[in-house]
This record gives sequence, structure tokens and C-alpha cells, in this order.
Amino acid sequence: MTALTKESDFTGGGFDVERIRTDFPILFREVYGKPLVYLDNGASAQKPRAVLDAVEHAYKMEYANVHRGLHYLSNTATTNFENARETVRRFLNAGSAEEIIFTRNATDAINLVAGSFGLDFREGDEIVLSIMEHHSNIVPWHFHRERKGCVIKWAPISDTGEFLLEEFERLLTPRTRMVAITHMSNVLGTVVPIREVVRIAHARGVPVLVDGAQAAVHVPLDVQDLDCDFYAFTGHKTYGPTGIGVLYAKRKHLDAMPPYQGGGEMIESVATERIAYGRTPHKFEAGTPAIVQAIGLGAALDYMMQVGRERISAYERGLKDYAHQRLAELNWLRIHGHARDKGAIVSFSIDGLHPHDISTIIDRSGVAVRAGHHCAQPLMDRLGVTATCRASFAMYNTKAEVDALAEALIKARDFFG
Ligand SMILES: Cc1ncc(COP(=O)(O)O)c(C=O)c1O
Repeated sequence: MTALTKESDFTGGGFDVERIRTDFPILFREVYGKPLVYLDNGASAQKPRAVLDAVEHAYKMEYANVHRGLHYLSNTATTNFENARETVRRFLNAGSAEEIIFTRNATDAINLVAGSFGLDFREGDEIVLSIMEHHSNIVPWHFHRERKGCVIKWAPISDTGEFLLEEFERLLTPRTRMVAITHMSNVLGTVVPIREVVRIAHARGVPVLVDGAQAAVHVPLDVQDLDCDFYAFTGHKTYGPTGIGVLYAKRKHLDAMPPYQGGGEMIESVATERIAYGRTPHKFEAGTPAIVQAIGLGAALDYMMQVGRERISAYERGLKDYAHQRLAELNWLRIHGHARDKGAIVSFSIDGLHPHDISTIIDRSGVAVRAGHHCAQPLMDRLGVTATCRASFAMYNTKAEVDALAEALIKARDFFG
């Protein structure tokens, strides 16, 4: 591999990372007297000023409850909230804002599909997942296994972390009710060929839910092009606030699905012996929604679209290639995941050292990475480990920070002798 030597090598010079960094105030703080090197973006990304300002403005100047009000502030808050839904629509290139449901997070979005779309799943019905899934896209389906006797089937990966399309295809049977697959592994970085997955599943009449919690921030998206039935993602990993997530679903499904939760906002009328539900998307948004969080998410997605998602993706992949290059120089370290299509996540192990010890030691150098099973225990079993360290990159990370990671790892290994 040719060495990447300058930031401009990543993208042909079209991406000014130092300028972008100035938009993220937290990047300029120190920890333990050292510059912060934040490489835990897969867990949660930092927030640009555009998001912080939007949240502050919404609370300070334009705050009220939405939808039901007849006064100025309520109308303004409603407009801002619904504009955020339209921003999400543009971000996903969904056909209509009515196909965008605000949820608490990706987990909530997946539970909505499992609980509502999956309500009539029966004993012996099959759900196909991949072995790379996050627990968020496993446990809701385990509920159907435990409670109804559904069967979960696991699409395998190769030793390098590739999703195996042919093996996946063999798992589909006339009993398959749902395919639920991650778009990008939160451990291996593998980007799953979702268009192919959808084509194969649809040829058998099987719907596809995509867990986009990791992909949404790294991979430019077009749900109409992917043709998936459901796409879930989470606000806090896409530079937005916590407490807000998104479910995209095709209109034909939303119209047919029963409500997920009951309460205010989601009804048309309620009487003692009768109830009529509201229209989608409100039918799936019971109770007061996360108003300001949705507005903050809109600001985050706008920010990403302004920077340019193709440019962000290209830059981050250059960073990931550089991280592979630098970490490959450490012949005592093993990288997990070498898929051809891989996003900006690099998991690794060091023989003889526990990932928790590694991350605790490098934290003292200001380097924040995650260590653990990453809520992907079936994948840990497949890899033959109980935990890994994971460096996950965002648009504001730099080559110098990759160097800081490598240096901190060398120090940690020396420390443990
Ligand atoms: C692939 C994947 N799916 C789902 C989730 C769950 O996201 P949240 O906790 O925001 O619902 C995560 C979070 O780490 C993830 O990485």
C-alpha cells in the first residue's frame, strides 16, 4: 500500500479538516493535560456548533409543545419540528416525509418494527440476521423466538469479515418473514451490500430492515435506491443530540402496521368503546415527541449535507486506510476485519493484553477508544474473542490523531512489558 503522507492525500485536497474541527468546540479541550484524541465516535459522535446553537435557540426562543397548540410559539415549534422531518427525508432521499418516524434511537426504531410489523409472526416463522448484528438488532427478534417460537437464522461472514451473499441466500425459505441486517458492522466496519441483500430477499417476497446506526454517518444514503423496507438510525452517532432516532419505512407498510405505543398525539379520536388512530407518521409517535432533539438532529444532518457526504466518506476511508497502515507496523497487534468495502472503524487485539487495560492506559495519553464486546457478542464468539479495542473515526479526526493512537499503543505495550 502506498503511504498516505498528507491530509490532502485522502481526498485530493477537497476537505479542510482543520476548518471542520473549529466547528466542534469539545475537540479543543484537554484530558489529563493532553490534547483530546477522540476515537470513540462509533459509540457517540461529538456535536458541531450548528447543533449546539440550534438546540439552545429552540429552548431559548422558540419552545412550546407541538401540533396541538393554537398560539405563535406552538406553531413555530411545530414548523421547526416538521422541517426537521423534511431534513431527514432529504438525508435519506425518502419519497415522502410521511415515511419518516421519529423514535428515541435506533434501538427504539428496530423495536417498533419487531413489535408492530412482527406482531403476527408465528411459531416456526423465520427471521434472518447476520452474525455481525448489534444487540439492538438481535434482542427484539429474540423476543419473538422466546415468546412465539420463531426461528432466528444467522448469515455468516468470511474470516476477513466479508458478508457472504450466497450463504445468506441459502438461508431464505418460504417461512422467512423478515431479513434484518446491519448496513455497517460496528466492530469490523464491514459495509454490507444492502442493495443485493434487498434484491435477493424481495425476489422471495421477504421484507428487509436495515440497521443503519453506523452507516448513516459514514455512507451516503438513498433509501429509494437501496429499496429497503425499513431503515433505522440514531441521532447521537450522526453528530446530533441523544434521545432521538429515525425509522424510515415504506408507506405501504406504515399504513398496514398497527400502532406501536398508545397515547396522545397518535389518535384521531377516542371514545369509551371506540378508537380511531391518526395517520402516519403520527400514528407511531405516541406522546410528546423529542421536539428539540429532532430540531438538533435536523441541524446535524444539514451540517453533514453542507460538508458533503461523499467527501466525508472519502476522507474517513483515507483515515481508516492510514490507521490500517500504521497499526500494521505493530507486529504484535491484530486487526479484526479486512472487508473490501469497509468504513472508518478499526477493531484490534494485542496478544496477552486485555482490551480494557489497553484502553485505560491509552486514555492517560488523551486517546479515547472503546473496549469490550461492543454489544455484538455473537460476533465476538465468531471471532473467538471476548472483547476487542475499537478506534472509530469521524469527519473531524486527523492523520496526526492516528499517529497519536499508534504511539499510545506502543507506550501501553512497553508499560505492560
Ligand atoms: C450497529 C448498531 N446498531 C444499533 C445501535 C444502537 O444505537 P442506539 O443505542 O443509539 O439505539 C448501535 C450503537 O452502538 C450500533 O452500533
